[in-house]
Amino acid sequence: MKKWWMNEIVYQIYPKSFKDSNNDGIGDINGITEKLDYLKDLGITMIWICPIFKSPMADNGYDISDFKDIDPQFGSMQDFEKLLRESKKVGIKILLDLVVNHTSDEHEWFKKALEDKNSKYKNYYIFKKGIDGQPPNNWRSIFGGSVWEKVDDEYYFHAFHKKQPDLNWENKEMREEIYAMINWWLEKGIAGFRIDSITFIKKDQDYSSLPSDGADGLVTCKHKTRNRPGIEHFLLELKEKTFAKYDALTVGEAPGVDYNDFTKYIGEDGYFSMIFDFKYADIDVESGTDWFKRTNWKVSDFKNKLFKSQEEIQKIGWSANFLENHDQPRVLSKLIKEPEFQNETAAKALAILLMTLRGVPFIYQGQELGMKNFVRNNIREFDDISSIDNYYRSIKEGFTEQEALNFINLRSRDNTRTPMLWNLEKGFGFSEAKPWIEYSNHNDGICSINNNVYDFYKKLISLKKESEYSELITFGKFSSIEIDKEAIICFSREYNNKKLLVFINLGAQEVNIEAPTKIKNVILNNYEDIKILDKKITMKPYQGIIVEVSNDKS
Ligand code: GLC
Ligand code: CA
Repeated sequence: MKKWWMNEIVYQIYPKSFKDSNNDGIGDINGITEKLDYLKDLGITMIWICPIFKSPMADNGYDISDFKDIDPQFGSMQDFEKLLRESKKVGIKILLDLVVNHTSDEHEWFKKALEDKNSKYKNYYIFKKGIDGQPPNNWRSIFGGSVWEKVDDEYYFHAFHKKQPDLNWENKEMREEIYAMINWWLEKGIAGFRIDSITFIKKDQDYSSLPSDGADGLVTCKHKTRNRPGIEHFLLELKEKTFAKYDALTVGEAPGVDYNDFTKYIGEDGYFSMIFDFKYADIDVESGTDWFKRTNWKVSDFKNKLFKSQEEIQKIGWSANFLENHDQPRVLSKLIKEPEFQNETAAKALAILLMTLRGVPFIYQGQELGMKNFVRNNIREFDDISSIDNYYRSIKEGFTEQEALNFINLRSRDNTRTPMLWNLEKGFGFSEAKPWIEYSNHNDGICSINNNVYDFYKKLISLKKESEYSELITFGKFSSIEIDKEAIICFSREYNNKKLLVFINLGAQEVNIEAPTKIKNVILNNYEDIKILDKKITMKPYQGIIVEVSNDKS
């Protein structure tokens, strides 16, 4: 069934690093409002803004101390309402980030829970007694160390940082307060939410230890706290009491959901409109939380995972496609192995990939400029708590400091959190003050100077939104096509007797391939030209093309 949000083009904003309107070094809401024309020009129809709520910023806003207030660093509720009005005028909808697995330890509820043992807020969180002077079990939190933090004679549970105590979803009263808060935001007229860490809300109630999986003697809490039986009850209730009533768009952050469970999540009666599938995003590491466990991936591994994701989701629902986000490295640095090819051409090839897959594309700020990872030489230069944890855990696992630093440079979440590079003036058009986090330290990656990558994204977006191929690119059937060359990614999209093929050479060698059908015309190409002779195509390094083919089997 067609839904209103299926042809949206989403742009993700990390507000702290997007645009600083008052020159205090921190991006803000008015900065976003200033840049609406830029987004409109690019062709964006919806923005997802990472958390802007009141927060002590231990995890840059993913630790909320007041759900219904805006953090003063970002501005005020008036600023937000202005953004909502102005964005409506230019046809851009707003998705907010919904963080309801945990709050900040500075949230009123948590403060009251600590102050008064008989307070009802005690049961809004998860408190347990220790065992023989030790924490209740040996689970490791996502940001390292035990999930348990001691206060007085007991412990509270945090799946993430100790400044992010988990809410107790077993408590109906707490859930009702959360639903009321969600509806309060939806009433303001936002289009929906990206929903943070939502698969963590159900914990196995036995809270039992498991065999350790690391040098710290702990074991990742994921086995007992992520996508656990019983979560369906909470997720269905959440949907029915909030999103469903507003026909809101919801995108769940749901790593680790098995394809067998996707129907429950995003099928016709699923909990969410879409979920992010991380199986192809985390191609370079064995697990998104252990950056020292790097993989030796090949293009075919990436391709197989990506195609599997497309095909599985096509059977039941709609994909939320992304190559970057605020937790991932820059895609040019992640997927292009040869530094000399981490350039505009490759950025455009990846743009073709993202924009022609079946589903809603999510473009992360700076991706449309071809931004890349930075290199930092000292752990002190990192802000992200996950980077700092991974650095020390790597060393504990036996790696040298240099090796540890290398892992962090490759994977740090700070890579995508550096300020947006708007131009080449002082402060790169982001801010006149010293930014809260250092700029990226590569000048060759600033493609905004000539707008090359930007213009290419713009072309792709208009091809998807308002060309004769729009319906095809949006609704067309996805089929993977096997080409017998390791670095070639090829698939087709088909709709009402029209058919496109996409070819991407994700490698540094020129390759000759044979297309499955005769090519009618080339629709888009990231090089000046392309050598095609009947079915024979010569693909240059990191070349990407979209071509039309006739839909009969000739
Ligand atoms: C999600 C967010 C990440 C945050 C974590 C805890 O994974 O994307 O940035 O640190 O949840 O809220
Ligand atoms: Ca500011």
